[in-house]
Amino acid sequence: MNLEVSSLSKKFLKNGNPIVVLQDINLFVENREFVCVVGASGSGKSTLLRLIAGLDSPTSGAIVVDGHPVCGPGSDRGLVFQNYSLYPWMTVAENVGFGLKLQGFTDAERQQRVGYYLEVVGLAKFASAFPKTLSGGMQQRVAIARALASRPKILLMDEPFGALDLFTKESMQEFLLQLWQQTGTTILMITHDIEEAVFLAQRIYILSANPGTIAGEILISFPESRSFSLKKSRHFMKFKNQVSQLIRS
Ligand SMILES: Nc1ncnc2c1ncn2[C@@H]1O[C@H](COP(=O)(O)OP(=O)(O)O)[C@@H](O)[C@H]1O
Ligand SMILES: [Mg+2]
Repeated sequence: MNLEVSSLSKKFLKNGNPIVVLQDINLFVENREFVCVVGASGSGKSTLLRLIAGLDSPTSGAIVVDGHPVCGPGSDRGLVFQNYSLYPWMTVAENVGFGLKLQGFTDAERQQRVGYYLEVVGLAKFASAFPKTLSGGMQQRVAIARALASRPKILLMDEPFGALDLFTKESMQEFLLQLWQQTGTTILMITHDIEEAVFLAQRIYILSANPGTIAGEILISFPESRSFSLKKSRHFMKFKNQVSQLIRS
């Protein structure tokens, strides 16, 4: 098992009153699996991802990555957020290599890895460009390359395509599926977009709101290689309906 979350709860204080945002969350992601968590806005998706990333600590429960309990941020988890979160004053290559520098890689090792992951995301030509000169989709590919460069045990993504226009979003979904197959990365992605989740995931957890609890789990029995024509199939509609019913229940 690559990621295991057990009996996880999180309370926040809102205007002095405690509110339960996540309650008794149990989920897992197997090695090389692509899992999505789908929920409405405000259901606690980002809170869940921040806890797994170690950016905040749970009120109770446990998070274990590859056998090690999470007690803070770490290079075993790669992060990609909705807002590109690239450093605007650094070039694309410097952004991708930033974490490696912190981890003490030599210049030569860093350059080699940065070059490799820029190839993987198809941006080798843009190594010395600055983020603001790139489109939103390209910036997200840089963020993905940066997250992969540390060779994390799992890639954690919080609505990574939420800020992109529909056309770019759909091509990024195809790109991510190919990347997942090529690199064998384990992925946990959070989204409010049901169609996106059904298209990408092998398994979906449905997060219901107030308090955030896992309302169900659906196995998406499509082959790993998927193309857009799938979105028009009856089977695809059936999965979408199942997910939306669970979210509303
Ligand atoms: N640091 C915080 N302090 C207080 N409340 C918070 C904090 N972070 C999130 N919340 C609350 O938790 C709930 C879930 O937020 P969030 O995890 O961002 O949901 P989602 O990502 O699903 O939209 C919201 O009601 C939000 O206001
Ligand atoms: Mg969110």
